[in-house]
Amino acid sequence: MARYLLDDDGVSNPSSNSSLDQIVERAIAANPGRRSLLKAGLGLSAVPFLGGLAGCGSDGEPAFSEKMLGFDSIPISTADAVTVPNGYAAQAILPWGEPINASAPAWKPDASNTAAEQERQVGDNHDGIHFFPFDLNRTGPGESSDEGLLVMNHEYINPEYYYAITASTSPTDWRSPFTAEMARKDQAGHGITVAHIRRRDDGSWEHVKNSVYNRRIHGNTPCAIQGPAAGNAMMRTAADPSGTEVLGTLNNCGSGYTPWGTYLTCEENFNGYFGNTDPAGRTLTSHENRYGVNNAGFGYLWHTVDPRFDIKANPNEPNRFGWLVEIDPFNPSSRPIKRTALGRFKHENAAYSIAPSGRFVVYMGDDERNEYIYKFVSAGTFDRSNPYSAANRRLLEEGTLYVARFDAGPTTGDRMGTGVWLPLVFGQNGLTPENGFANQAEVMIKARQAADRVGATMMDRPEWVAVNPKNAGNVYVTCTNNNRRGTTPASSNRADGTTTAGSARPPVDEANPRTNNLWGHIVRWTEANNDPAALTFTWDIFVLAGQPSISGERAPSANINANNLFNSPDGLAFDSFGRLWIQSDGSFSNSGDYANMGNNQMLAADPQTREIRRFLVGPSGCEVTGVTWTPDRKTMFVNIQHPGEVGSHPRAPKRPDGSTMTDNDIARNATAFSQWPVAGQRPRSATVVVYRTDKGPIGG
Ligand code: FEO
Ligand code: CA
Ligand code: CA
Repeated sequence: MARYLLDDDGVSNPSSNSSLDQIVERAIAANPGRRSLLKAGLGLSAVPFLGGLAGCGSDGEPAFSEKMLGFDSIPISTADAVTVPNGYAAQAILPWGEPINASAPAWKPDASNTAAEQERQVGDNHDGIHFFPFDLNRTGPGESSDEGLLVMNHEYINPEYYYAITASTSPTDWRSPFTAEMARKDQAGHGITVAHIRRRDDGSWEHVKNSVYNRRIHGNTPCAIQGPAAGNAMMRTAADPSGTEVLGTLNNCGSGYTPWGTYLTCEENFNGYFGNTDPAGRTLTSHENRYGVNNAGFGYLWHTVDPRFDIKANPNEPNRFGWLVEIDPFNPSSRPIKRTALGRFKHENAAYSIAPSGRFVVYMGDDERNEYIYKFVSAGTFDRSNPYSAANRRLLEEGTLYVARFDAGPTTGDRMGTGVWLPLVFGQNGLTPENGFANQAEVMIKARQAADRVGATMMDRPEWVAVNPKNAGNVYVTCTNNNRRGTTPASSNRADGTTTAGSARPPVDEANPRTNNLWGHIVRWTEANNDPAALTFTWDIFVLAGQPSISGERAPSANINANNLFNSPDGLAFDSFGRLWIQSDGSFSNSGDYANMGNNQMLAADPQTREIRRFLVGPSGCEVTGVTWTPDRKTMFVNIQHPGEVGSHPRAPKRPDGSTMTDNDIARNATAFSQWPVAGQRPRSATVVVYRTDKGPIGG
């Protein structure tokens, strides 16, 4: 039987907990051998020995014989609640609007907080997330499973829940009149939260509100631009003639982290914030087209009140977004750095691995229909003996960006094959001035066009990438869905880079084997000699999601059964034991092609046997995205994004005439559909803390 999350956003009562030092000293006293593990301080893929830690009986708690899938698949749900397996507890913390520290203003349930207040509150639409454990002194990164910094992305804002209705609000459009204050509040709801948190004795967690580490980074926070594109003419604006500093990071989707204690945030659909104040618009350049920058934008309206987002006034401002951004959460005054050596595209997440040579490798997907998978290989090498060294902290400054080509291999039709990493280096493979690339800076700014030119494989919307902690050269990627493959007439991204974003209609291929891929799939590859820096790989398909009742080309793979149906795999991460966790962001209609899939969910998979079990189901209208663990794997943090998005949900609220409520209706009836996580209040994105009531490892 499943357990339902109630209204616990528990972040109060900071005085009841043991101090970190007491907890760590207790842990070391119970198991002196653990001191070296606590001090090891390396990241996931570098410390496979952590795989045995949870079962070792440290902390004076019972030993657990950890299984790969030690829980039963839970049923689907369409309820307005988080569901987890029996024996597990779930607690919501850090919802949108939560004051970032003890002096920040309270969240107002009518959404009337100002932009200045939102800059000091947790942002909206939680996404990628990472737990950075403290060291013994709480002054830097370490291995505590009881206290640390929770760092998370805020991808966008849900306008229907974001503003208070006032006497001057238009009755037919709750966002009219749209003001500069509203745009500024929107920008404040984007970006990153750094929250100091600690575990209570009962396994739940609390926000340490009086900590100096609590911080918001948002759409107007100054960020440095570093790497080959820094200072290039395409990066310069009137406000920043040097092309080296930009205000803000936007559409922060998935995330990553480094073994030197920094957070990586990924800028995804940045193009949607830009528009043109000229009602006639203008003819777009092929570069703008390739990235989806256009005259109308996605409807955010910022360009109507903030010239920075008006492509008429600032045509280069979009070039300053679409990057991977590195943040040091342990230095609250540090400036985020846009790392341009890792290329400009719609970055989903970033997963690192370390080559036997020491080269630092970052895998990344570009999430749009028929886009590519990339990897960055550092020029320098990682010093394993001193992970926090100054030299390690510069490894993302310089290196080579590659893009993947998936080939059929020796046998055609077996949905496995071989692959090649194609370098995106100025002067090589046609990346020359004659073809539109003046230098390496332009190769990075126009990474999509460069990938077109070298012949990369168009994928079914590559989302999160995850590296197997048991094999540094074994990598998985979610291909979430694609309704633009296999239709006629077929077309591909043109080698000259002039194809408008998302407009190609490629035929099926072996790595993307279905027409109109409604449900998505997961591809995995193994680098030659298990070396992440290798230039070739072999690949196969781990799972094809879908409906078991369908046969033929669109049939799901054999590891899909009645107990684990899902669609649109998106978030993806391994825990340190080697379990693969899959999160969904797809249709929650629970009907037709999506029958018996319920609300969006999270599942766990055994990478060896390919067995998949459903672990968690999210509340109404949400997406489940972003997951991280304490080093002992006894606490899991999962983000619930946009609860309350009505869409095609079977319980969508109705108007008196029987039609589904519009966003304008929802803005005036904000509790009509979802009240997660606090009953009686409008829905809010939040982080869910998952722990076992017997204090065992999650999933085992
Ligand atoms: Fe922000 Fe592709 O998900
Ligand atoms: Ca093949
Ligand atoms: Ca995503």
